[in-house]
Amino acid sequence: MPAVQPDSGDNLPITTLRELALAAAASAGLRAVVRVGVADALGDAPVPVAELAKTLDVDAAILARVLRNLRCYDLFDQTDEGIVHTPASRLLREDHPQRLKNWVLWATEPWVWQLWPDLEQALRTGRGHFDERFGDNFFAHLHKEWPESTETFNRSQIELSRLTSAAIADTLNLADAKTFADVGGGTGYTLAAILERHPHLHGTLVDLPAAIASPDPRLRPDGTLAARSQVVAGDCLHEIPVDADVYQFKSVLEWDDELTVTALRNATRAGHPGSRVLVITNLIDDSPEIRYATGVDLLLLLNTNGKRHTRAGVTALAERAGLRVVGVTPAGPLLHVVETVIP
Ligand SMILES: C[S@@+](CC[C@H](N)C(=O)[O-])C[C@H]1O[C@@H](n2cnc3c(N)ncnc32)[C@H](O)[C@@H]1O
Repeated sequence: MPAVQPDSGDNLPITTLRELALAAAASAGLRAVVRVGVADALGDAPVPVAELAKTLDVDAAILARVLRNLRCYDLFDQTDEGIVHTPASRLLREDHPQRLKNWVLWATEPWVWQLWPDLEQALRTGRGHFDERFGDNFFAHLHKEWPESTETFNRSQIELSRLTSAAIADTLNLADAKTFADVGGGTGYTLAAILERHPHLHGTLVDLPAAIASPDPRLRPDGTLAARSQVVAGDCLHEIPVDADVYQFKSVLEWDDELTVTALRNATRAGHPGSRVLVITNLIDDSPEIRYATGVDLLLLLNTNGKRHTRAGVTALAERAGLRVVGVTPAGPLLHVVETVIP
């Protein structure tokens, strides 16, 4: 075999492997800078790294090293005057309308680092092993044992919903519906956006008690949507406690397939013939952000024994639950609405 020159184009596969094996360095650095608050401490003007470190009470030399690594991913930049923001690092600021700070924290939580090595076991056994490792199912364990992580999760879901709720509210045809239930709706950000866009609609937020402990301000008794909404604790794997014209499951049914069928069957029991059941999800075979979608898919495998669905996969599950599939429509660049009806 010919010798490979150190900096020749032939090196690309070697570089790819070296970088990929160390990709965790960037995830860890990203988490660390969010935790110490670098993005919020940096405004529009460049700040020398020593000054930034002093403000944040962190080690200047190590901050410089972490930022040097993150710069390789277009996250923060270095000028002669000091560190500056890039478009991506600005998304880590608390005041950014497209903030992803809590989502970054969620995706890099300490328990996530604990789970990644389990991928080998999942590969050998065909399933995730969260329940055996932690002694409970994912959401029960999250809510009981990791209250701070639950907070981070709820905030991260609001951040994701802020990116998508307008497109969902625009896409859904709700003219003929009077009642709408968002099942597993989290704190209710998306439900509130839908109710604001469709002023004739009454909405119910259904989620586990820990998720609705602090609902969206608009849905609270003194909120702007209080007269047209209710917040109800419920476990959709047990029973959905409301009859509605439309049920929405957004980014919820990404756990074990049997649980997905159970939740959808419970919607058919709660609703009436003609009620619509909408599964809103990031389809893995139609995703413009395939590295993100496939990464989340593997994390779901390890935490809920779940997955990102394919179009054929999710429609087959809906049919197994006794629903009639009407169609699949894009809602913004990332999500699809799988529309089904209770026969
Ligand atoms: C990925 S989050 C999505 C939240 C929200 N639909 C959104 O898109 O922002 C999944 C949600 O499902 C809820 N959930 C999990 N298990 C549930 C259950 N058995 N019954 C009802 N909700 C559940 C979680 O509490 C969480 O709010």
